[in-house]
Amino acid sequence: MKAENATATVLVTGANKGIGHEVARRLVEAGHSVWVGARDAERGREAAAKLGQNARFVQLDVTDDASIREAAQTVGKAGGLDVLVNNAGIVQPDAPNDPRGPLRAVFDVNVFGAIAVTYAFLPLLRKSGAPRIVNVSSDLGSLTRATDPDYEFYNLELVAYPASKAALNMATVQLAKHLAGTPFKVNAANPGYTATDLNSHRGYQTVEQAAEVIVRLATLGPDGPTGGFFFNEGEVPW
Ligand SMILES: NC(=O)c1ccc[n+]([C@@H]2O[C@H](COP(=O)([O-])OP(=O)(O)OC[C@H]3O[C@@H](n4cnc5c(N)ncnc54)[C@H](OP(=O)(O)O)[C@@H]3O)[C@@H](O)[C@H]2O)c1
Repeated sequence: MKAENATATVLVTGANKGIGHEVARRLVEAGHSVWVGARDAERGREAAAKLGQNARFVQLDVTDDASIREAAQTVGKAGGLDVLVNNAGIVQPDAPNDPRGPLRAVFDVNVFGAIAVTYAFLPLLRKSGAPRIVNVSSDLGSLTRATDPDYEFYNLELVAYPASKAALNMATVQLAKHLAGTPFKVNAANPGYTATDLNSHRGYQTVEQAAEVIVRLATLGPDGPTGGFFFNEGEVPW
């Protein structure tokens, strides 16, 4: 990717539905070449087919190291990668009688998955002229918001999911610092409360609105920010 509007090759994890699928659709529409990452081959192939010729399916379960390795080989052999969108995510209720269960499951996808995928694709991204990494986080992971009584979800009683997004935010900051002084832009995105399967479609935003900030961070120009946390209207406090 030579400039912000040049054609990029992008991988979106968890792109078979929800926000990730809309991000993939928007990027294809903008002329980019998109790998639709999905853990289930049938759902992934179907989703990629809907997006046309510039979308290709790649099997990618972010909790499975062999799957991640094979996906990196596939993408590498096909010509490399400019943009990684770590979108795959899950939510599970806490289980006070078995606290490790949901914590492990949620962290495995939302934190360990995103970090493992990032490390696996870093060698390809380093070969790009304008590498971009977008970690799809949530304002539920903002310590500042969580401790603000005026925050709309201040009273939400949930540990595993917000803690996982706070950890992902820290990983974003640390990776951005590690890659400072290079062409990389590494940022976290807060898509906002969006109607998807994740929340049984209770969210009040559309996936079109949610995808906006992610697409913007995925296609940042050379003067764009790195090491930040953004929503559609600006920055989210950490
Ligand atoms: N919706 C919201 O209000 C909201 C708000 C803030 C942040 N977010 C974040 O936005 C991202 C997308 O969520 P969404 O709302 O679009 O949810 P969604 O519709 O449930 O989509 C989640 C996607 O992640 C995939 N996924 C789950 N586990 C995976 C794994 N082990 N490997 C690969 N892919 C996996 C799912 O695949 P399957 O179809 O195979 O399950 C699906 O494609 C998540 O990171 C979420 O935390 C959402």
